[in-house]
Amino acid sequence: MSRRVTTVSSGAPIIGRLAVIGLGLIGGSFARGLRQSGLCREVVGCDPDPATQQLAISLGVVDVMTDDLATAVQGAELILLAVPVLAMQGVLERLAALDLGQAVITDTGSTKGAVVEAVRAAFGHLPPRFVPGHPIAGSERSGVEAADAGLFRRHKVILTPLEDTDQSALALVRRAWQALGADVEDMPLEDHDEVLAATSHLPHLLAFSLVDTLASRSENLEIFRYAAGGFRDFTRIAASDPVMWRDVFLANRDAVLRSLDAFTRDLSRLRAAVEDGDANTLLGVFTRARSAREHFSKILARRAYMEPMQTQSINFIASPGANVQGRIRVPGDKSISHRSIMLGSIAEGVTEVEGFLEGEDSLATLQAFRDMGVVIEGPQRGRVTINGVGLHGLQAPPGPIYVGNSGTSMRLLAGLLAGQDFTTELTGDASLTKRPMGRVANPLGEMGATIETGEGGRPPLRIRGGQSQLKGMDYVMPVASAQVKSCLLLAGLYATGSTAVTEPAPTRDHTERMLKGFGYPVKVEGARVTIEPGHKLTGCKIDVPADISSAAFFMVAASIGEGSDLILEHVGINPTRIGVINILRAMGGDITLSNEREVGGEPVADIRVRYAPLKGIEIPLDQVPLAIDEFPALFIAAACAEGRTVLRGAEELRVKESDRIQVMADGLQTLGIKAEPTPDGVIIEGGEMGGGTIDSHMDHRIAMSFAIASLRATGEIRITDCIHVGTSFPGFIDLAKSVGIVIRQEDNA
Ligand code: S3P
Repeated sequence: MSRRVTTVSSGAPIIGRLAVIGLGLIGGSFARGLRQSGLCREVVGCDPDPATQQLAISLGVVDVMTDDLATAVQGAELILLAVPVLAMQGVLERLAALDLGQAVITDTGSTKGAVVEAVRAAFGHLPPRFVPGHPIAGSERSGVEAADAGLFRRHKVILTPLEDTDQSALALVRRAWQALGADVEDMPLEDHDEVLAATSHLPHLLAFSLVDTLASRSENLEIFRYAAGGFRDFTRIAASDPVMWRDVFLANRDAVLRSLDAFTRDLSRLRAAVEDGDANTLLGVFTRARSAREHFSKILARRAYMEPMQTQSINFIASPGANVQGRIRVPGDKSISHRSIMLGSIAEGVTEVEGFLEGEDSLATLQAFRDMGVVIEGPQRGRVTINGVGLHGLQAPPGPIYVGNSGTSMRLLAGLLAGQDFTTELTGDASLTKRPMGRVANPLGEMGATIETGEGGRPPLRIRGGQSQLKGMDYVMPVASAQVKSCLLLAGLYATGSTAVTEPAPTRDHTERMLKGFGYPVKVEGARVTIEPGHKLTGCKIDVPADISSAAFFMVAASIGEGSDLILEHVGINPTRIGVINILRAMGGDITLSNEREVGGEPVADIRVRYAPLKGIEIPLDQVPLAIDEFPALFIAAACAEGRTVLRGAEELRVKESDRIQVMADGLQTLGIKAEPTPDGVIIEGGEMGGGTIDSHMDHRIAMSFAIASLRATGEIRITDCIHVGTSFPGFIDLAKSVGIVIRQEDNA
């Protein structure tokens, strides 16, 4: 029997006939979507159910409807099998007996191993024009009446091509899903079944089971009357198609059992914690789960900066000619935030942190310690509570520790992890993977640590624990790096004998100050810092000052924007960080400090900056390590100054989140400023700055520097790839707008 409706599609078809076998929610949505896309000349549906046939026609889901497989696939160029997984075998056997010509066959089964086996059994081999597929989309609604042309829009479709899969067949299937707005990805078949068992099959099993358990209790009516909120959210998927799900569990048995066993084990642990009143275990599981869930939500909302998300891009568009006014507090200091988590975790007792920077970098450190079993509450409006586990209480993390863009996390953690008796792997994003780690791996190796690095001493780092006891050493650092110094001091906590580090120039001393704040003795004699093992850290309170590195953008903004007058509150003015103040003042900047005080061992002040004409200078060499992160912003000041500014001795800038010398010089030249990079610095001639498009090279500080350049530019500045601004300065755009900078964000998700 066949039924037909008139086609309404438009556009140039690239597929003649599409045959969709099984017109449930998925098959129906695929048929309807492709029919509307105009990609196929004709869409034929095949389903044995008369009601489905009638609806498919009356709803306009297909052009032609039949209950005969041979009729449906005759002359078809693409055949989609959208029947339940266990019905696949029968359909495939009938297909194998037909002449399919050059037709491409694909399917939508939720488990791929079973479908591929069914294909092999039916055809006696794997036809190269068969492309296994699985759309990760669905709804608790089922049947052709729920068919929705937009069901797959912005959903993932996983294809699991096999060794012999024909590339043109793969391309055609990909093209068809893309026409429905899906994100198509390839994945090895075994990975697909394992991942789906954990992320889809197990949750469905739990939802079905929970509803069944509650429904079979005698007071069920009463229970369901009160079962709004959590119950409804958790069990929404128990309304899904029972036959389809029965088949999934039968077909993906082994992978589901592995996930179910892991879950059962963890559930028993939680049961024991409830029974024993073990508050710490409960809080540990809940805080870890909550933060993981927030992390996943970001990924799902395409906000995270993680590797798979780098396709997302954010541009800043800053308009010329504003100035800045008002009183603001920029987010907490990044360096101090990292250290508060690290030292709080290995301290005994509770550490309460206020003003914690909720940026991606410091959150990466926080997550690393959660992964190592530390119970950390928050962050909530900058408050974090760390339940320290003591120097020897960290546990092996469940997998590699991913620290994203954060060099500080990787370098400091390397030292701490070298002292543990478990093995860890530290990984990072594409930018971090280019940065040098030999500077920590080599001296740690001299202390007796076993560390493998990626090619050329770059990440990932594999730190083998428990190999041999670390030995203290006397190390003279070849580069002025607080990260290297801190890494070695942290390793020194676990070494025999004393560990001394001598720096060629003063670098930030937050680690030394904070160790003392935790009651751990540290000896500082000039450029040499020494630490001995055998003491302990005791939990304490930490008040994180506002980050002078973030304040620097606004200090430069106020200095260059005519008429500006801005107060930055509670900024950390640690003497090892105030290069930006010294340099701007030397250039003629009008900067005054007030309300100077000390909080938790760190000096802070309110900083007032008023517009003042700047002049070019030779930046004193001794200021370079003290302003190492602030140079991108200072280069903007130099571009707005009268005359020439020369920076030397700053080759370190070439190995930051980007090559900041080259990238800044390129950007300034785009805006019409003469900026000549040198091996260890730059020469900038101040002048009139125009507008233009700047590539931030995914470097947060480059993006923010050019955003403030707009105050003096004569045209609009568009900065591309600004997603990483969240690593150090969440809320930058809003704060910038609040003081008068005319800037907006453009999301290209
Ligand atoms: C940091 C030290 C600096 C700095 C980085 C943070 C720290 O790096 O650039 O953003 O927290 O110790 P180096 O010490 O390697 O110069």
